[in-house]
Amino acid sequence: MLKTAFLGSTFLAASALCQQFSVTGYEGTCKTIEWTISSASQVFYPGSPEFEADISHWAKSSSQVSACSVEPGTPQDVGLILRELAKTRTPFAVKGAGHSVNQGFSSTLGVQISLKRFHDIVINEDSETVEIGAGLTWTDVYASIVPKGINVVGGRINGVGVSGLTLGGGYSWKTNQFGLTLDTVTKYELVLPSGEVTTVTEKDEDLWFGLRGGLNNYGVVTKFTLKSHKQPAIWAALINFVGDQVDGAQKAFSKFVSEPHDHKALQLGEFVYANGTLLFGISLFYDGPEPPQGLYDELLNLPSTSKSTVKGSFVDFVDGQLLPEFERGYLSSVPILHYTEPIMDTFMNETEFYGKQLSQHDPSVLVVYTIDPFESDLFTHGSPSAYPPDRTRPVFPSSIYYGWTDKSVDKHMDDAIRTSTATLERAGIQDGQDLENAAAYVNYAISGTPLEKIYGGNLQRLREIREKYDPEDLMGLAGGWKF
Ligand SMILES: Cc1cc2nc3c(=O)[nH]c(=O)nc-3n(C[C@H](O)[C@H](O)[C@H](O)COP(=O)(O)OP(=O)(O)OC[C@H]3O[C@@H](n4cnc5c(N)ncnc54)[C@H](O)[C@@H]3O)c2cc1C
Ligand SMILES: *[C@@H]1O[C@H](CO)[C@@H](O)[C@H](O)[C@H]1NC(C)=O
Ligand SMILES: *[C@@H]1O[C@H](CO)[C@@H](O)[C@H](O)[C@H]1NC(C)=O
Repeated sequence: MLKTAFLGSTFLAASALCQQFSVTGYEGTCKTIEWTISSASQVFYPGSPEFEADISHWAKSSSQVSACSVEPGTPQDVGLILRELAKTRTPFAVKGAGHSVNQGFSSTLGVQISLKRFHDIVINEDSETVEIGAGLTWTDVYASIVPKGINVVGGRINGVGVSGLTLGGGYSWKTNQFGLTLDTVTKYELVLPSGEVTTVTEKDEDLWFGLRGGLNNYGVVTKFTLKSHKQPAIWAALINFVGDQVDGAQKAFSKFVSEPHDHKALQLGEFVYANGTLLFGISLFYDGPEPPQGLYDELLNLPSTSKSTVKGSFVDFVDGQLLPEFERGYLSSVPILHYTEPIMDTFMNETEFYGKQLSQHDPSVLVVYTIDPFESDLFTHGSPSAYPPDRTRPVFPSSIYYGWTDKSVDKHMDDAIRTSTATLERAGIQDGQDLENAAAYVNYAISGTPLEKIYGGNLQRLREIREKYDPEDLMGLAGGWKF
């Protein structure tokens, strides 16, 4: 059974009031919303600093100029807003922290909803959980709870939003130990497409399944409750290789990640091309004050151009994880089963090839190909969920990221990232990897990726759940992966 909080009578009063006005277009919807919502919430229009912040995104190419933005301050107000959007069939967008790198996924020409006013963090010591408002970033969360000695399974890079990452999956520095972020959720506060405010837990079979990977298909989440764990002092290192160091380093990394390791350890590799240089970077993370004796000796002793370590604070470590923001940006998911030598060589060659080619179109381009290995039991920490569609075997969420400045070369970048994604998939298949049914990671997938490629055999059930909770397809007015 769903627990339901009924909406107040303001809704009826306000909609009666605005029938006396005849404002047309999206601005009309904005005005009606303004009259409908409580004083906890506010509508903003182009030109105000609040509006600019509400429509902004990490990659500026993800933004659109909406008719207005609204910052709801209560779940009940989210309900009122959704009802108004449904009544007028107005396109809208729901933004957590705006890290989607697909335009239209959390941006719109209609009504931009920004969740920034949902920013509370409540630690429940007894149940070892943390309640987290949907407008927060992981950086906010870590800064608040890690000094108290606890942590949650969240994002790896500075600034990423709690909402999108949790609703899409969530690959964390802690995933080898605890699974995906969605495996650690205990409760959602959800505003259904009907406008009802409800709580979703494991008992609500369908929504529980759908919300864990289904992003914005089932309504708007205003609060997440996540399991917490004790946070010790941590150890981390970043090693960079250039020139003739790269080949040896990537081969050593490939060998290292093909073996199982301590689950407190996590490694990330990145081939980067910028300013005419190919670089290979390795991030090593250990969730304890020192890695076990000898664990990383071989990698740390490779000839490198720079090597830095962070000891102690998990907050400082994540604060230092920065991917530079660009005017334009695209991201693409490359599912991989094994980081074998031929696959690593293809990743390296693609980085250099497209780095060189694309810098001829825009010299500011940054090209990043990520090697993202986890332990082989990474999907065994949770129960069936929308994503990943198959928990019986590991699939690693490699990605390609291009960032640049000049809008006029978008088409080149788009063609290149799609071609390169296909090249890597072909190389994997040639390498003997069964990639036919290897799911793309929803939070890295480029727009246009077929839903089957992300949700596999779950798609039918996800559509049925959508039909049940959103028969009028309100959430279809918001962009993203639509069931
Ligand atoms: C620099 C960078 C680093 C990243 N690192 C990681 C990483 O380490 N691990 C990982 O797993 N992913 C990572 N990602 C991907 C990340 O998970 C997605 O970009 C995610 O969508 C970010 O969430 P957001 O709230 O910032 O995004 P938004 O763009 O605000 O939202 C993304 C989608 O979720 C929907 N949505 C957002 N909030 C809600 C809500 N409360 N209710 C319903 N729908 C909602 C939006 O409508 C949109 O479709 C990274 C991305 C970037 C750009
Ligand atoms: C490339 O060089 C320019 C100028 O020195 C610098 O501003 C920029 O950050 C560099 N790009 C990257 C991705 O390192
Ligand atoms: C490198 O990649 C490019 C683009 O995919 C391809 O044309 C070329 O043959 C590759 N080179 C090698 C040595 O694999």
